[in-house]
Amino acid sequence: MIRFLLNDELVSLEDCSPELTVLEFLRTNKGRTGTKEGCASGDCGACTVVVAEPAGGQLRYTSLNSCITFVGTLHGKQLLTVEHLEQSGALHPVQQAMVDLHGSQCGYCTPGFIMSMFALYKSCDTPSRSDVERALAGNLCRCTGYRPIIDAALSLAGRGAKDQFSDAETRVREQLTQILKDAPSASLTQDDHRFYIPSTSDELASLLQAYPRAKLVAGGTDLALSVTQQLQQPEVLIYTGRVAEMAEIRKSEDALLIGGGVSYSVAEPLLHKHFPAFADLLERLGSLQIRNQGTIGGNIANASPIGDTPPVLLALNAKIHARSGNHCEAIPVDQFFTGYRETALPEQGFIEQIEIPLQPERELYVFKISKRLDDDISAVCAAFSLSIDDCGAVTDARLGFGGMAATPARAINAEQALIGKPFTEEGIKAAQTALASDFSPIDDVRASGEYRLMVAQNLLLRAVLEQNNPTQEPLEVVQYA
Ligand SMILES: Cc1cc2nc3c(=O)[nH]c(=O)nc-3n(C[C@H](O)[C@H](O)[C@H](O)COP(=O)(O)OP(=O)(O)OC[C@H]3O[C@@H](n4cnc5c(N)ncnc54)[C@H](O)[C@@H]3O)c2cc1C
Ligand code: FES
Ligand code: FES
Repeated sequence: MIRFLLNDELVSLEDCSPELTVLEFLRTNKGRTGTKEGCASGDCGACTVVVAEPAGGQLRYTSLNSCITFVGTLHGKQLLTVEHLEQSGALHPVQQAMVDLHGSQCGYCTPGFIMSMFALYKSCDTPSRSDVERALAGNLCRCTGYRPIIDAALSLAGRGAKDQFSDAETRVREQLTQILKDAPSASLTQDDHRFYIPSTSDELASLLQAYPRAKLVAGGTDLALSVTQQLQQPEVLIYTGRVAEMAEIRKSEDALLIGGGVSYSVAEPLLHKHFPAFADLLERLGSLQIRNQGTIGGNIANASPIGDTPPVLLALNAKIHARSGNHCEAIPVDQFFTGYRETALPEQGFIEQIEIPLQPERELYVFKISKRLDDDISAVCAAFSLSIDDCGAVTDARLGFGGMAATPARAINAEQALIGKPFTEEGIKAAQTALASDFSPIDDVRASGEYRLMVAQNLLLRAVLEQNNPTQEPLEVVQYA
């Protein structure tokens, strides 16, 4: 049985389809049609809801796309929808701001915008324009235009985030903590379909041994699409989001250890401290709703050739800590991707942690080339980790690329061609040429092979320009190119 709060109503579900999404639960089971369905694939934000959960002695409010979230993941959380915001007939300050600043025309997108703005209101007292843009980048509006919507969000700055939810916060936190104390692990069953929520790594390992064909769900931002778009019906789903050993990110003496179930949003602050260029890339990965759910572990296991984090992990020489049964092994990331969407993960295995060695003496450059700045998949993603000596010569280089081959891959020939040369426009010429022997990229809807190769070569030049002209206009991954 799973238990969660729908605002202040305690919901218990036991005999329930494991593939039921939060959106279907709301609209079909509960008749709460304020939350809309647009794309059903995580792109438009019409279905945005807010989930609150205890974190650091408070409640943490995050926006997510209910269309690609399985209801089982709500165990021990509070689900808030647009219907819960008004109080005794009065609009919530977020709703009132949208009315006052004319932020809605046809209104179909509006509940999603409201919920994204509400999550921002609850987590940031004085949002800047870039905070607002970040919060709303996963919500599409075709009628109103963004100016009045952004104005509405900005008008909320400094309001103190006081509302009925702050008044109820202590009670809700205690209720949610109690649910998890009573049932740290839980499950849903319908016929022979099951959704398991293990709370320890041992339990997860045993479940995978018992159900070798089970599918793991972390954020579900890839996996849920196989259910909502390809109509697959996996018999057993196992959620990793409650596994204690996979839920933390911490720094050891010489590495960052990121749990396989840690969302991008939770990982971002520590990554920002140690690998700012990596954290900046995350700003360009999906939307805030996607980053609140999606994990680096899921990005690696999904093994897409255009996943954004593998190129960086390749450049940083990360290791994947995999576990199957009681057997644990650390697989260097450059041995992990064995073919198109194939990995070296052992049978019935899972990614418990990702280890990134700390290497403050090296330079890291990360670039993502896509058609839009926000919420777009890469045509090419590149990450360069370089050791450069006092004379300006490259002493070691690791170049990771996505979008250039059937798997994320290192450019071994280009790496060799960089070593011993000055990191200058002239010094990188041989490496730019060598990239053509490392990769023969394909043409597809995102880019032609010729474009991809040229862009990869030019990104090396862009790194040189960044390195040698630190005072010029920024060229970082978060800037328009
Ligand atoms: C609208 C939208 C935008 C997106 N934008 C981007 C983008 O810009 N860049 C990008 O790279 N990706 C993007 N994605 C894809 C997706 O968000 C990422 O790949 C994300 O990191 C997947 O993580 P997840 O936790 O949601 O994985 P899930 O969907 O839960 O799982 C993905 C796969 O990994 C397996 N898995 C999950 N965790 C583990 C584990 N610990 N051990 C072993 N196997 C595991 C699952 O079984 C599944 O096969 C986007 C997706 C959507 C819907
Ligand atoms: S319906 Fe479009 S993101 Fe969910
Ligand atoms: S008001 Fe119509 S889509 Fe936004």
